[in-house]
Amino acid sequence: MSVTIYEVGPRDGLQNEKTVVPVRDKAEFIHRLVAAGLPVVEATSFVHPTWVPQLADAAELMAMLIDGLGERGRQFPVLVPNQRGLDRAIEIGCEHITIFGSATETFAQRNLNRSLDEQFAMFEPTVRRARDAGLDVRAYVSMCFGDPWEGAVPVDQVVDVGRRLFDLGASQLSLGDTIGVGTAAHVGALLAAFNEAGLPNESLAMHFHDTYGQALSNAVAALRCGITTLDASAGGLGGCPYARSATGNLATEDLVWLLTGLGIEHGVDLAALVETSVWMAGELGRPSPSAVVRALADSPA
Ligand code: HMG
Ligand code: MG
Repeated sequence: MSVTIYEVGPRDGLQNEKTVVPVRDKAEFIHRLVAAGLPVVEATSFVHPTWVPQLADAAELMAMLIDGLGERGRQFPVLVPNQRGLDRAIEIGCEHITIFGSATETFAQRNLNRSLDEQFAMFEPTVRRARDAGLDVRAYVSMCFGDPWEGAVPVDQVVDVGRRLFDLGASQLSLGDTIGVGTAAHVGALLAAFNEAGLPNESLAMHFHDTYGQALSNAVAALRCGITTLDASAGGLGGCPYARSATGNLATEDLVWLLTGLGIEHGVDLAALVETSVWMAGELGRPSPSAVVRALADSPA
């Protein structure tokens, strides 16, 4: 068995840092993640630069990556919320975009400046044009387990929003525990509901944040259900600036350690990855929150 690790550190991780990482260091980060064997690296976001100033250099970064890595550089997924973002992504030569919807009304307004219903009107022409231009589209749905303003989010509501986002023309739907409140049984119930609604595990990915220390056990629950794509962030960087209490993602190193122990193939060189996260932690001026990074950085295996 093998699992695809969908790396989000350069996007989900760096979007939430107080310090803006210089574009050259972002490019080096991504080059090192690729060299460590990560098959997919979400690079940046073509969102409004005043909403996420940390990623305002998206065009410059993508130009550097495409210059250095050619076709591979074009395939790094980039977040795109609307047609303006799509124009910017296409202009630079991106071939893989990700839209990001909300399962709740409050987060749709806070993150997208749209109501829950209005978000579909924003995404629909964006996805249609992207598909017409031959781009691959991934869709996220956020707040799948709980929302800081609305509390617990009903499974039916998440499935309804997720299904609608996927049906716009996405090739994969990633279910986000944006604030890390989910637990293992909830993961099982959500996945069963999506399967019942006609979305098979091959179309689904899970995106865990580790706020309550549940990310790794939630990953095990997802694997047991048959999920084979898991999002993770090198060194456990991450969060969402528009979601109170969203902290780091499931650390890629912690996931790699788990998968190796389970005998599941992942293709990642853990030592190279840890070295990369230690370097990035130095750039950010704080230690990595990943237990595996800390353990291996102190006593390399
Ligand atoms: P808005 O202010 O409603 O935008 O923002 P608008 O459509 O009204 O346009 C206003 C102006 O912004 C216009 O310029 C547009 O051209 C410009 P003007 O005509 O006034 O000169 N504009 C743009 N400029 C550059 N790039 C763009 C763009 N769009 C409009 N793409 C918008 C709406 C969606 C743009 C804004 O709310 C936004 O950028 N939100 C992004 C927030 C964000 O990035 N959040 C973090 C990512 S989500 C996440 O982390 C969760 C995830 O990890 C999964 C999980 O954990 O659950 C994915
Ligand atoms: Mg996230």
